[in-house]
Amino acid sequence: MPSHRTRISIIGCGHVGTSCAFAILQNHLAREIVLIGDTEAHVQGEALDLQQAVPLGTPITIFAGTYKDAATSAIVIITVGTPGKFQGSRLDMLAGNLVIVRACITKLMAEGFDGVILIATNPVDVLTYIVQKETGLPPGHVIGSGTLLDSERLRHILGEQLNVDPRSVHAAIIGEHGDSSVAVWSAAQVAGLPLAHYPGANTLPSHEELLIAVRYAGPVVATLKGNTCFAIASCVTRICEAILRDERSVLIVSTLMTGQYGLHDVALSTPCIVGCGGVESVIELHLNKAEQKALEASAAVLQQAYAKLQAPKAP
Ligand SMILES: NC(=O)c1ccc[n+]([C@@H]2O[C@H](COP(=O)([O-])OP(=O)(O)OC[C@H]3O[C@@H](n4cnc5c(N)ncnc54)[C@H](O)[C@@H]3O)[C@@H](O)[C@H]2O)c1
Repeated sequence: MPSHRTRISIIGCGHVGTSCAFAILQNHLAREIVLIGDTEAHVQGEALDLQQAVPLGTPITIFAGTYKDAATSAIVIITVGTPGKFQGSRLDMLAGNLVIVRACITKLMAEGFDGVILIATNPVDVLTYIVQKETGLPPGHVIGSGTLLDSERLRHILGEQLNVDPRSVHAAIIGEHGDSSVAVWSAAQVAGLPLAHYPGANTLPSHEELLIAVRYAGPVVATLKGNTCFAIASCVTRICEAILRDERSVLIVSTLMTGQYGLHDVALSTPCIVGCGGVESVIELHLNKAEQKALEASAAVLQQAYAKLQAPKAP
């Protein structure tokens, strides 16, 4: 872990980046937050606005910085790119966002960064895979926010439908943060009871309807307000908290598969132990046959997106 154990840097100061900065500030997580963007005046404005929120909270230094400043961070959060799409697949953003992410990561690594990179930019799983490969950082040090957000959305929907605190609902979405995500219904529980046995579960929409509601929750929000930022910021903040406090919490994040579920050479989400070393171990759930098949299909979608990128362009 680098020397600035309590410094977090955020590259990309749009809706997601600034929401992450504000959530980290409000949760008193870091001692320093470095903001990096592509428009100096804008980043300075965001830093000033955030600084003026500090006197009512815990002392924290926030400044518009450089890649040299970012290189000594414990965590660098990547939120650069174009705003979330309202329609179509997140994978359609790959070529454009990869150029931007690659440029930022190249500058960061040139300054000797050796902490944890946390990626929120979409398509988050393919970018996590490429950044891990190209930086050569240990697999656990490159994390995608992945389906932590989708899992929270599912818990929110189930909590509302069953009229129970969503924190008491345990339900995982794994695989791609996108159209091929997989709901692990076989392990879903409320208060320790299998979901199907919980009072009122027979009134829930079908599994398929629930999964569709989760998959399209982001586009629904983006269509209404133009972007999504607060829910992803809470996920990013929670992952940073687990790392900085060395919690070894179980969080559903995107990480390189090294044989789990029979998968290799792909990054996707599954429950992971997250601590000061980033993803410290990967938990392989006991999936039923349909879930395993769906996860393999999700992995294939991600691998095809990567292969398409590698394919030579027609003259
Ligand atoms: N993982 C998730 O669950 C999730 C949720 C919401 C949004 N996102 C993704 O987050 C990304 C950002 O979304 P947003 O709504 O904040 O978009 P935004 O347009 O508001 O912000 C992107 C920022 O990146 C900056 N930027 C672009 N190129 C840069 C560069 N080379 N260096 C530094 N900064 C640069 C832009 O100036 C802009 O401020 C998108 O890819 C979006 O799909 C992911």
